[in-house]
Amino acid sequence: MRHKNFAAFCLFVYLCFNCSSPKPLDNQILIIPKPSEQTVKPVQFILKDIYAVSAENDLADASVYFMNQIDNVIDIKLDPQNKRKVEFIENLDIEDEGYYLDVSKNSISIEAKDSRGAFYAVQSLLQLFPDNAGENNEIVIPCVSIKDSPQFKYRGMHLDVGRHMYSVDFIKKYIDALAMLKLNTFHWHLTEDQGWRIEIKKYPKLQEIAAFRDETLVGHYSDQPHQFDGKRYGGYYTQEEIKAIVAYAEERYVTIIPEIEMPGHSQAAIAAYPEFGCSGEQVEVAKKWGVFEEVYCPSEKTFKFLEDVIDEVVELFPSKYIHIGGDEAPKTRWKNCSHCQELIRQNELKDEHGLQSYFIRRMEKYINSKGRQIIGWDEILEGGLAPNATVMSWRGTSGAVEAAKAGHNVVMTPTSHCYFDYYQSENEDEPLAIGGFLPLEKVYNFNPIPEELNESESKYVLGAQGNIWTEYMPTEDQVEYMAFPRMLAMSEVVWTNPEHKNYEDFVSRVEHFHKRLDALDINYANHLYEIEGASTSSATETTFELTTPSKGKQIRYTLDGTVPNLESNIYNKSIPITESVTIKAAVFDDEKQLGSMFSQDINYHKAVGAKITIDKNPHKAYQGSGAEGLINGINGSDKRFGDKEWLGFWGEDIFVEINFKKPVDLTTIKMRFYNGQGQWIYAPKSIAVTWYYLDRAPTMYQSIEPNGLITNVSADFGMGEEIKDVKKIIIRVENYGIIPEGKQGAGNKAWTFIDEIIVN
Ligand code: ACM
Ligand code: ZN
Repeated sequence: MRHKNFAAFCLFVYLCFNCSSPKPLDNQILIIPKPSEQTVKPVQFILKDIYAVSAENDLADASVYFMNQIDNVIDIKLDPQNKRKVEFIENLDIEDEGYYLDVSKNSISIEAKDSRGAFYAVQSLLQLFPDNAGENNEIVIPCVSIKDSPQFKYRGMHLDVGRHMYSVDFIKKYIDALAMLKLNTFHWHLTEDQGWRIEIKKYPKLQEIAAFRDETLVGHYSDQPHQFDGKRYGGYYTQEEIKAIVAYAEERYVTIIPEIEMPGHSQAAIAAYPEFGCSGEQVEVAKKWGVFEEVYCPSEKTFKFLEDVIDEVVELFPSKYIHIGGDEAPKTRWKNCSHCQELIRQNELKDEHGLQSYFIRRMEKYINSKGRQIIGWDEILEGGLAPNATVMSWRGTSGAVEAAKAGHNVVMTPTSHCYFDYYQSENEDEPLAIGGFLPLEKVYNFNPIPEELNESESKYVLGAQGNIWTEYMPTEDQVEYMAFPRMLAMSEVVWTNPEHKNYEDFVSRVEHFHKRLDALDINYANHLYEIEGASTSSATETTFELTTPSKGKQIRYTLDGTVPNLESNIYNKSIPITESVTIKAAVFDDEKQLGSMFSQDINYHKAVGAKITIDKNPHKAYQGSGAEGLINGINGSDKRFGDKEWLGFWGEDIFVEINFKKPVDLTTIKMRFYNGQGQWIYAPKSIAVTWYYLDRAPTMYQSIEPNGLITNVSADFGMGEEIKDVKKIIIRVENYGIIPEGKQGAGNKAWTFIDEIIVN
């Protein structure tokens, strides 16, 4: 055997003999969130038997965390003289939370300004461990050099424990996951209409009454009639448990922001203490989901109660921010309360929104007096923002824009990209969720900086957060299913430099990360082998494209309704559509089907491929596949208004114009509207169609009122007879208007969601 480069050969032999069993050198770094700069060297560091650890100043904390993690994987001894060493070095030039990590053949060096940055270096280092770390009592780490620092300083995940609650161990596991992904804030939503979950010693009825509901809604809120499980449900976290959780989080550089909701979402507290409501009447802890009219009455005794609660909360939570909620507080009770009306007069407030602002400002003053700041949902902008408040923007991004332009800090959590209670797949087998559609890619592509902000205003955007509302998550497994892998995408949104973000690259890292999640016993969703379809029309043809997020696999499909198998056609270019068909497809490797089957009916109706325009752009969060999607032969999902088909318009009337390629003879026009009142989506108030003919004056077909109470309203203009030579149609869709009192989102504009317009 001859080798041109004998020295390289010796190194190769040395490396191989240095490992007790040969392991592939992983030449890719698969860390999530992706670091700013990374290079791999073709050697490896082997941790076994004995090593040295040194740490400067307060970096010792991170070194202790590291040693504990190593002890969990292998038996190893410390010897300060050993040449195999891990050094934690203070470097004050590195940015906040940033770090350098250098793994070379004999040593690992971690540099950071403080222990927090060093802790993130350790998290990256732990992610370099191979899947078989610990086998033969050793850990083989690829040699790398990484320089890294975050994009945003607020990197959060939220968890609602009001609707359902979870064990202390689970909360710790959740915090561990945040830390692993370099997320630094846990927004703990502790009080709700359906349950008060934090022990407040001064008010024992919060524990006895507010912490328990008599029973819980079964199925979806929109299933009628409502049914209940007949089982008492509840509990709360004791102050001792909370202290332990806060300490656990602190060790992992996770700040917990507690949320105590006010003035709305407070029915549980009012059930325990009816005197804090406007009527003083007894109410029950809520048993179903939604927005309730029982809100705190801004009386002196209510403020005393809330101040007492805050006193205990600030003792438990050292966070700079206290979240005071502020969202979804109906004003009905205040309108009918003589005390509230008197307060409006005395303080010369404009109306009940002014009273909401008065409420929040007063609580802000108290919380500021404790050396803390308030953060609240964007409704705290109503009636004027409290002077030092930070806004959590959830109803789109306009609240954030308004607040940032006024010089207030904001945290971005718009429903469109950050609500992990929405469905993540269009697969009909998904476990029941609240609605919506927020796939992994949409989370990944979120840019927390709203485009309306200039560079200096953008500085007020502290970061972003994924929200987990738990109406439909009764178990810890279900929380994990909804949180993962979307939490991985969110970590990259807030940590990774946008220049280094790439969805395909991310997906390949997620695929690899599955093993890590398995090892952590996290019940993640896997939709990487699912297929997405998209139809495209040009002047000459309509085609259908199939894609899957994962690489190196094959899509096989059929057009005759049969189930695809290893013998079916391999998809390699888009499929021409010339008639109604059913496309079935699945992802395969060489041996088997990997994901679930995709199935799409295409209804090749008379408007498919026509020219369509809408006089307004859909809301930027709900653009589906554009206006063409309304006549592509594909119906929007019955369950997911956020899919590629539905177009969402917020509060606007729209005119849709369809120009046929050549005049057509028509008998029906059918339109589908989404009806999801819990998500503020209402069928239109009216719909009218005007017909334009080849050779006659246009006529308007009567305006109809769709039946607004069923899901997926369809407005069916069945004319009964064929209408000849129609050149174009114009459809006017009138928005529902303002959401009435007593409904979720009351007082806000309703959304209209439309797909598809079916012409036959
Ligand atoms: C919210 O989702 N009600 C903040
Ligand atoms: Zn009142």
